[in-house]
Amino acid sequence: MPPPTDLAARLARHGQEHLLRFWDELDAEARARLAAEVASLDLVRLDALINDLVHREEPSTATTGPVRPIEVVRLPRTDAERAARRRAAERGASMLAAGEVAVVIVAGGMGTRLGFEGPKGTYPIGPVSAASLFQIHAEKVAALGRRHGRPLPLYVMTSPDNHAETVAFFDRHDRFGLERVRFFTQGRMPAVDRATGKILLAEKCSPAQSPDGHGGTLRALSAPSAGGGPSCLDEMRAEGVRTLFYFQVDNPLVRIADPVFLGLHRAANADMSFKVIEKLFPEERLGVVVVEVGAPKVIEYSDLPAALAERREPEGGLELWAGSIAVHILEREFVEKLLTNLSLPYHRAIKKVPYIDDQGELVVPAEPNAVKFEQFIFDALPMARSWSIVETDRAKEFEPLKNATGPDSPATVRQRMSDLYAGWLERAGAQVPRRADGTVPFGVEISPLFALDPDELRSKIKPGVEINAPVYLR
Ligand code: UD1
Repeated sequence: MPPPTDLAARLARHGQEHLLRFWDELDAEARARLAAEVASLDLVRLDALINDLVHREEPSTATTGPVRPIEVVRLPRTDAERAARRRAAERGASMLAAGEVAVVIVAGGMGTRLGFEGPKGTYPIGPVSAASLFQIHAEKVAALGRRHGRPLPLYVMTSPDNHAETVAFFDRHDRFGLERVRFFTQGRMPAVDRATGKILLAEKCSPAQSPDGHGGTLRALSAPSAGGGPSCLDEMRAEGVRTLFYFQVDNPLVRIADPVFLGLHRAANADMSFKVIEKLFPEERLGVVVVEVGAPKVIEYSDLPAALAERREPEGGLELWAGSIAVHILEREFVEKLLTNLSLPYHRAIKKVPYIDDQGELVVPAEPNAVKFEQFIFDALPMARSWSIVETDRAKEFEPLKNATGPDSPATVRQRMSDLYAGWLERAGAQVPRRADGTVPFGVEISPLFALDPDELRSKIKPGVEINAPVYLR
């Protein structure tokens, strides 16, 4: 039986008729799957992306005009600045107590660089407890709810590839005791051949598709639930949530719903806010927050021309120093506006994608052969009416898990967690041995349920106590 004529005609209009090449070999179930997957592709949008990002040499996301540093709320150095941060913290705490804040974790990525089979959030990262990233985040959310007398709703974004496994993991751990967790799934985009723009086949009955980038969070938040119920945004609106605290699953040091950050965001009447740290060197893999032709924006590290990355202030520091740690606050109304009136650009990623060739054989390419299309949440910044960019301390808030070895790997993340928690213990009056370079020689870990910050720990530790072996306080 030939393929349905409307399906074949639609694909032919967009030059993608090869997707039906193996139709004759497929059984009824495989044919139904292929037809359904093709029907879900937005081929009109794809044509435009292939034109812009595959057939053109220069990606359209490169810089377009003069770039200068953005104004940042720097780390407090004076008493007045410290007092301003305390006032911001009070304001943030009242937002939490009023139930105005929801927490969004994006956990839909593939974790390819880490080389870990499961969803990245299930990675056992606790230096002593081997607690997963998800457990550490969930315990912070639970502890915050307890502290502010109001459970915080947690929204976890998955992808079609890791959704079932992620939900099962939370269920196996009784959702870490959280009252309010909801999972939502991001969309996918087809991967196309780098030379021709043809959609690759992952199987004879299935086009190759991958997550549409964390910019897809916005669309996914507005999609109805699986059973046709209210979207996450509808639910937030109904419950009086005004503000979304957003972060990536890979950073166990993140200060979730940091009251200072929330307060500074609200005081600036901001649509969107960013936490930044000082970049250590020009090539560091952090997006930089800048002003380009008068508007705020993030230039991703892979798009930042070396000449810009290396520009120095007269005193020697990097001019474009404000590295994004991918921790944001977004107003719910701003997200709704983006969804109705505005759209985020797509970026291209050139990757190795296995595919079925013309002979029906699976090819695992040795070199990048495909273009994937992704949207990035930080591209919403230029559309914000107002914003706040807040500096934070890298040692206290940022050590992401990205790679299997070397920088940003399990070894560095566990060490930085131990160093941070040892510092909390020392501030509470405990004694912890340190190596000559200041790092601690064994694992030190504090569950957020035991203490969320050094002040809370102080009330629970006997001054003078000596820590001589790995410790997990819970
Ligand atoms: C990212 C940022 C970079 C920032 C750095 C800080 C991008 C494109 N760049 O770089 O500006 O300075 O983090 O750590 O994000 N994710 C999804 N769905 C997707 C794609 C990604 O949920 O479709 C999530 C992943 O789970 C991951 C995170 O987004 O936690 C980051 O994605 P990744 O591609 O690893 O970006 P980085 O190169 O680390």
